[in-house]
Amino acid sequence: MRKTFLTALAGMAFAISANAQNHELTVDMKKNGAPVQETMYGLFIEDINYAADGGLYAELVKNRSFDFPYAFTGWKVAGNVEVRNDGPFDRNPNYVRLSSSGHRDKWTALLNEGFFGIGVEKDKEYRFSFYARVPEGYQNARIRMELAIPVTNREGQDFLAHEMTVSGNEWKQYEVVVKSPLTEPKAELRIFLLGNNPVDLEHISLFPVDTWKGRKGGLRKDLMEALADMKPGCFRFPGGCIVEGTDLATRYNWKNTLGPVENRPLNENRWHYTFRYRFFPDYFQTYGLGFYEYFLLSEEIGAEPLPVVNVGLSCQYQNNSEHAHVAVDELDPYIQDAIDLIEFANGDTTTVYGKIRAQMGHPEPFNMKFLGVGNEQWGPEYVVRLEKFVERLRKEHPEIEIIGSSGPNSEGRDFDYLWPEMKRIQVDLVDEHFYRPESWFLSQGNRYDNYDRKGPKVFAGEYACHGANGRKWNHFNASLLEAAFMTNLERNADIVHMATYAPLFAHVDGWQWRPDLIWYDNLRSVRSCSYYVQQMYAHNTGTHVLKATEMGKPLAGNEGQDGLFASAVWDANKKEVIVKVINVSDVAQDVKLTFAGLKKNQTPELVDITTYHSDDLYADNTLDNPTAIVPQVKAAEGAALEVANVPAKTFAMYRFKVANRK
Ligand code: AHR
Repeated sequence: MRKTFLTALAGMAFAISANAQNHELTVDMKKNGAPVQETMYGLFIEDINYAADGGLYAELVKNRSFDFPYAFTGWKVAGNVEVRNDGPFDRNPNYVRLSSSGHRDKWTALLNEGFFGIGVEKDKEYRFSFYARVPEGYQNARIRMELAIPVTNREGQDFLAHEMTVSGNEWKQYEVVVKSPLTEPKAELRIFLLGNNPVDLEHISLFPVDTWKGRKGGLRKDLMEALADMKPGCFRFPGGCIVEGTDLATRYNWKNTLGPVENRPLNENRWHYTFRYRFFPDYFQTYGLGFYEYFLLSEEIGAEPLPVVNVGLSCQYQNNSEHAHVAVDELDPYIQDAIDLIEFANGDTTTVYGKIRAQMGHPEPFNMKFLGVGNEQWGPEYVVRLEKFVERLRKEHPEIEIIGSSGPNSEGRDFDYLWPEMKRIQVDLVDEHFYRPESWFLSQGNRYDNYDRKGPKVFAGEYACHGANGRKWNHFNASLLEAAFMTNLERNADIVHMATYAPLFAHVDGWQWRPDLIWYDNLRSVRSCSYYVQQMYAHNTGTHVLKATEMGKPLAGNEGQDGLFASAVWDANKKEVIVKVINVSDVAQDVKLTFAGLKKNQTPELVDITTYHSDDLYADNTLDNPTAIVPQVKAAEGAALEVANVPAKTFAMYRFKVANRK
């Protein structure tokens, strides 16, 4: 027996306010609108907030090769420790020689602090490894590794110890897997020289054994699972501003990220000094998580890889004098980098870079289709350089879709200058960025309705609602407004082909920028409210847009629409209509859903209703309570839905089956 919506779903409905308004949303089912791209809702990673080193890249030792500008950053040393620079890895030449102090009670030792400590869990395995040799004149030496609770925290006691012998005068890698007897989020690694013989140590590393897909030297599993659970359509990497670098010498150089990690040269991370109030002078890029790993993880989470290359400009915020950039007639090596990148991703194994990819473990091409050229660039200095890239890329790789930039702002002088230029140059997509307050998100419900349909498509490559009045942190209300804004992306899927929230990751002890999609400490992670909003969209993209209007107009938070935003899609594979309604107002709203243009045998059957709501608008999920605010799905159980009662401050999603429709 069929029940009405209000009785069947009373358990999940919120109180209907006396001020509720009546609305009618008509979903035009006569014909499908534009296809929604499979790339539509994706992810964007940048090594900011200790996202790569200290985050996704699961290495637990900081400055493992002693190649930071100050060789002992991250380390404390005692006794007789000397830094030498003729080590086995020419691009990371430093190593340390540990020699006896000559006194029984004066230890020669190293202590690594990790990234805000070293997190280990009870009964989990960790792989400790290092390169070592004993100097000429000696045959072997002994060391003892310990994991210990820092003296400053508690008693300083080691809880795990392992002694090892190093033998021979040639460099060799040593490795042991140890099991932690306890959980400690902020342990330290200690290495003591035992006995009188000296030893040389290099690339001292500690990884969890249990990484994503169990890979040695791999990625943090809980964070990768969060990415995979998004089912993202695309994956933009590696930044952001780090693509540009403070100067060209510190730009992200993808070629330096190839080959064995031991010999990937260190790069400065500009986020260590960008904000004086969030100053992290120990933040560098080891490139342990490099382009090969980014392509591989994109493939593994089912996302189109979307690399971004430097266009010959340093970060224009930091350095915009002509001499800070590559002269236009000297751009060739930069353009060649882009061409070589395509070869690395897609070339067969007989090509130079295709062969390197195969040697790294992936003979099959990665099938890259998109390339971002430049990040948040602006001005004629960008346009003139981009044109050179486009010219050559079109000639040699017409199959690659080129993404240009509309600058750092969502509107204004640079934006107005760049969009026509992007059309003239005929890039395929334009990367728009908007970190904006609530008022902006509320006012942009129609942003793409009138965009030129003949020009490049839109990639909303970085965006997030940054609460005004000091509320620049993750909270439910910001995510609700993002959800409202995203109805506009969805309704305009003919022109908006991709969208990625930013930034992706943040370590609670080491962030520079917030809000962010996923937070973590050394052992735990939490998905923010914005994550769940992104996920509701990413899991419910459908295949085609359906026109959904009230009196001929979309619900886009306009006057008379009482804070309602809406979009609808058809999923041709599942034969489902998915209607998303966001009510940002303070009162519940009744929305009558009408499906126009259906044939007699096409009856929409309500499948389920998902609601996302928090009574506390300024709350978010936390490490201690990671599922405090998560979407609630209620199966329809045969209920019919005529009037959707959308509670105040709620993202509601209604899914209907229409079995006989195409
Ligand atoms: O996401 C943080 C920064 O914001 C990115 O690096 C940059 O592109 C933007 O300005």
